[in-house]
Amino acid sequence: MKTLLVTGGAGFIGSALVRHLLSRTDRAVVNLDKLTYAGNLESLPGAEGHSRYRFERVDICDRPEVERVFREHRPDAVIHLAAESHVDRSIDGPAEFVRTNLVGTSVLLEVARGYWNELEGEAREGFRFHHVSTDEVYGDLGTGGGLFTEETPYRPSSPYSASKAGSDHL
Ligand SMILES: NC(=O)c1ccc[n+]([C@@H]2O[C@H](COP(=O)([O-])OP(=O)(O)OC[C@H]3O[C@@H](n4cnc5c(N)ncnc54)[C@H](O)[C@@H]3O)[C@@H](O)[C@H]2O)c1
Repeated sequence: MKTLLVTGGAGFIGSALVRHLLSRTDRAVVNLDKLTYAGNLESLPGAEGHSRYRFERVDICDRPEVERVFREHRPDAVIHLAAESHVDRSIDGPAEFVRTNLVGTSVLLEVARGYWNELEGEAREGFRFHHVSTDEVYGDLGTGGGLFTEETPYRPSSPYSASKAGSDHL
């Protein structure tokens, strides 16, 4: 059975993803979440006690703990959603955004790289790290409408989008 490590699985989007994975797929799910003000395990009814679900209350900035989670659960892929995500809060206090979105993402990437380096064969070939970004990294479309594409230049306009742009580049 494939195991997915979902970070931020108690958040708004992450909890919908975990609910989907448990109800519509046969994947095992490890939900790694610090449970900040934005995380709520009540968004995951039925997850606790589910045979394919494990919860780890861990801060993505805590490298030894992130390493332990990789060692114990041996994920086949990571879907990284954990972030400080509220634009207005980032303007009032950017430090936590820099810490979680940049430092935390770099910790997760480094631990995943070390783990991946020791995988072999199909496990190594198949391993994926899926980083969840935001359209905010492209700035505003303005009044003219239109679309952003993956070729649109980055133009972050808040500490939130700057930290997400930085994590994308990492
Ligand atoms: N909500 C949106 O409209 C939107 C749009 C585009 C992209 N995104 C991106 O999608 C992802 C999820 O967004 P969301 O709206 O579900 O966010 P959210 O704020 O609702 O949830 C974030 C989750 O991450 C956890 N978390 C925060 N800091 C952590 C840390 N240091 N270690 C471990 N866990 C931590 C929180 O406890 C929470 O459960 C984010 O990466 C966000 O940038 C969101």
